Parts: sequence; C-alpha cells; structure tokens
Amino acid sequence: MKRIIVAISGASGLLLSRELLRLLAGPEVRGKVAAHLLISPAAARVAEHEDPRGTACLEDLARLSHQVHDPLDLAAPMASGSWPHAGMVVCPCSMSTLAAIANGCGRNLLHRAADVCLKERRPLILVTRETPLSRIHLRNMLAASEAGAVIMPPCPAYYTGASSLEEASRHFAARILDLLGLPAPPVARWPERISRENAEVSF
Ligand SMILES: Cc1cc2nc3c(=O)[nH]c(=O)nc-3n(C[C@H](O)[C@H](O)[C@H](O)COP(=O)(O)O)c2cc1C
Repeated sequence: MKRIIVAISGASGLLLSRELLRLLAGPEVRGKVAAHLLISPAAARVAEHEDPRGTACLEDLARLSHQVHDPLDLAAPMASGSWPHAGMVVCPCSMSTLAAIANGCGRNLLHRAADVCLKERRPLILVTRETPLSRIHLRNMLAASEAGAVIMPPCPAYYTGASSLEEASRHFAARILDLLGLPAPPVARWPERISRENAEVSF
C-alpha cells in the first residue's frame, strides 16, 4: 500500500479535496493506496460557508480516507522522515499554509509533514488557492518550488467541456494522480473533447 498524505487547509475549494479523496479511494487504486487525512481548523470554517451540509461534509471526507490525523499532533507518524510515504498533497493550500511551508515554520502537523517531504525529497504538491496574488504569495510560491514542491493552482482545463464544478474538479484531481504516478480514472485528455472544426489551434 502506498501512503498518500492529503492535507486540507482553510482555503476555498473543498470540492477539490473531495474529488481527490474519491479518486484515491476509487477502483483504479483500490487496495494500493491509503489516504492519510489532515484537516486544518480553518478548513472547518470554510466548510461552514462552502458546503450546504456545513462541517458535516468533513465526515464524508474522513470516510473516504484510510486514517484521519489530528492536525495539532506533532508526534503523529508523518512528523518524522522515518515514516515512509509516497507523497503529500495540500489541497487546497491557503496562502497562510504556503507561507509556513515556504519558510520552514512548522507550527502544526500539516506544516511539519510538508517540511519533512521537502527534506526527504518526496513529492509535495501545493494546490495554492488565491487570486489575485500579492508579491508575498508569488515569492512564497517560488521559494516552495525551489525547495522541491510542485505549485499546482486549481486552474480548470477549459478544453474538457466540463459542465459542472464537480466535473472540472474531478479532472483536476486526476491530474494530481498523474503527478503522483498513480493510475487515474478515464477523464478527458487533450485533445479528445476538441473538435477539429471548432478548435482555434492546429493539431
Ligand atoms: C470561507 C473562507 C474562504 C477562504 N478562502 C481562502 C482562500 O481561498 N485562500 C486563502 O489563502 N485563504 C482563504 N481563507 C482564509 C484562511 O482560512 C485563513 O488565512 C486561515 O488562517 C488559513 O489557515 P490554515 O492555512 O492553517 O488552514 C478563507 C477563509 C474563509 C472563512
């Protein structure tokens, strides 16, 4: 079983984390991946605003995971480099969490686990969610990228013809699995959904 850490910070985009966890629990990787979930306290505030079920939606995320960890427990397994895993995704990643990771300030388990990924040279994907971006955000993204993280803002792939936020989020989550080297379910791949007549680009 490959362990994948999924961390949810207090940025907008809980739908993205849900789709990611669904794919990590899906038939393509069943029995091969164990998702270890971390939810920052601020993510619960976001859930109150973003989901019709409020914080109850976090229980659904927990059910999709192999194990849920206390974000304040700095003695949890992923706080140590000796606990093997195959990568960590912070989805969505707030600017506050980005700043902590980029500057090595391990104030909670989420920051510490990301710091461990960087020092152990393990995959770390940051789904940084904010717009527009200040120079501070941009500097922190560059610093995290230079330290080895992949900066992956949740930009929809407009060419897929997705008709809902859920569909666009599922496509984005599949791209995260690509980066982790995990098999993803069938989703639109360029240029499958583009008709040659309508496309403005040439193939
Ligand atoms: C509804 C809501 C949406 C938010 N969306 C964002 C966002 O998209 N990006 C961001 O950087 N912060 C956002 N914030 C602010 C963060 O929650 C705040 O900076 C918090 O301290 C982040 O803590 P964490 O990184 O430890 O989870 C949002 C807050 C709320 C209540």
